[in-house]
Amino acid sequence: MTFSPQAITDAAIASFSKADNPRLKQIMQSLVKHLHAFAAETQLTEAEWMAGIQFLTATGHQCDEVRQEFILLSDTLGLSMLLVAMHDGAKHGATEATVLGPFHTPDAPPLPNGSDLSNGAPGEALYVTGRVKSAQGEALAHASVDIWQADAEGLYDVQRSELEHERRARGLIQTDAEGRFAFWSVLPEAYPVPTDGPVGQMLLSTGRHPWRPAHIHFLIAAEGHQPLVTHLFREGDQYLDSDVVFGVRPSLVGSFAHHAAGKAPDGSVRDQGFWTMDYEFVLQAV
Ligand SMILES: [Fe+2]
Repeated sequence: MTFSPQAITDAAIASFSKADNPRLKQIMQSLVKHLHAFAAETQLTEAEWMAGIQFLTATGHQCDEVRQEFILLSDTLGLSMLLVAMHDGAKHGATEATVLGPFHTPDAPPLPNGSDLSNGAPGEALYVTGRVKSAQGEALAHASVDIWQADAEGLYDVQRSELEHERRARGLIQTDAEGRFAFWSVLPEAYPVPTDGPVGQMLLSTGRHPWRPAHIHFLIAAEGHQPLVTHLFREGDQYLDSDVVFGVRPSLVGSFAHHAAGKAPDGSVRDQGFWTMDYEFVLQAV
């Protein structure tokens, strides 16, 4: 028996040849092939791989109910966005997708259309209006619009331990019969991804900045259509060209307009200046 590097790689690939599930077999064999090629290309030492194992272990230990360091790792390596882009390519005329990110929760509070979902989050007032349509231009009534965002201090509610399970700048709204929705929230600001864990250490060690340009997350679902996971970014943000998770697409940069105190589009009177933003989302049929 030979112990050449290639023989070891071949034996490891062949060890999965009896897997019943053909897709699992393909994924495992390809994983071994590329993992071995990575080690060969870099001439990876045992000490370096041990450091890698310790990094992955620390990444797992950093995960809990509200912190998902592995999603952050996938995002900052560009893998999450690569998968989004690969599977988003067949859409015709639909709004582009981007990463889900680590801060979505399944328990956004359901709120009436037009509500203020900020719930005390710090920041300048922002009124968002939108429409949800099919690729054929038909209004999608009763679509669910799941919204979440960071506040003016760059924090999501789940990052504020003092809030416990209270939700801020997060909500679930249904479109009306014309596919329209609206909500008040706060103007999003750029924020750094969490840097107190192993992924932050990786960014620091490699001279990368941890910033994401200001954005609002949306997950929009309508019957008979593919769910859309996307963001709207704030135009002019200094990090639009260097998003740490590679999530920016030019079509997702929204126009945010500032207004002086006075009457808002929903008829309410604001005693301080506020912002508005309007966007049309297009969903692809299943
Ligand atoms: Fe985000």
